[in-house]
Amino acid sequence: MLHYVEKGQGPAIVFVHAFPLDHSMWEPQAAFFSDRYHVIMPDILGFAGSEQVLPWTIQQMGDELLALLDRLRVQRCTLVGLSIGGYISLPFAAKHPERIDKLVLAHTRARADNETEREGRSQMVAALQQSGIEILPDRMLPRLLGPKASQELRERLRHTILKASPNAAIFAVTAMRNRTDATPLLSQLSCPTLVIAGEGDAILKVEDCRQMAAAIPNSQCVVISNAGHLSNLEEPEQFNRALENFL
Ligand code: MLT
Repeated sequence: MLHYVEKGQGPAIVFVHAFPLDHSMWEPQAAFFSDRYHVIMPDILGFAGSEQVLPWTIQQMGDELLALLDRLRVQRCTLVGLSIGGYISLPFAAKHPERIDKLVLAHTRARADNETEREGRSQMVAALQQSGIEILPDRMLPRLLGPKASQELRERLRHTILKASPNAAIFAVTAMRNRTDATPLLSQLSCPTLVIAGEGDAILKVEDCRQMAAAIPNSQCVVISNAGHLSNLEEPEQFNRALENFL
């Protein structure tokens, strides 16, 4: 069962976080939107309060999300997925269109990992098994944050990452490595969709995000300047404005 934090009342917005973070990465969005929206921030399986003792798949995580919406009696929502949150949100929106008003795919892609990326995931799993969670901040922070991110943000994220258990990270990396190609789903998305890219994102190229948006029938793409992979934290004003305009 997924743990979540909620704030505010109104139409629901569900924010699904990046790896290896938790619901707390959405603080700037909760503060901005919760005076007029019901902001719901689940923790992905294994992270923060969402304990998990077995490996899981992106499909199972989608089933957990559906169970959470049912539990909260949320019939329809805007679903915002960032990175792994997008790997989860895209197939979810294609499978459950009746539950989605609008979709936001931020810093994410539809295709599965290629061979090199899968190899990188396997190496990360081996390193986590051998040395524990301590290896993760130094590996992930340069990928997550652009060069202009503040030292304070870097330290805050380091602290969040170190709170995760090795198994939480191992299961999430494994779920990402095993995820299937969601490209065929893009043309099936019927809801308005916003694709968000970061000018300096080390994981997702702006061009790839634009291409993904072009394959979605009713979509637009916004590029956040001065931001890496976590534009909601690096440039919260730009991110919130883009989301507000879209809503
Ligand atoms: C994330 O930010 O969720 C992950 O780093 C994405 C990825 O590694 O593919």
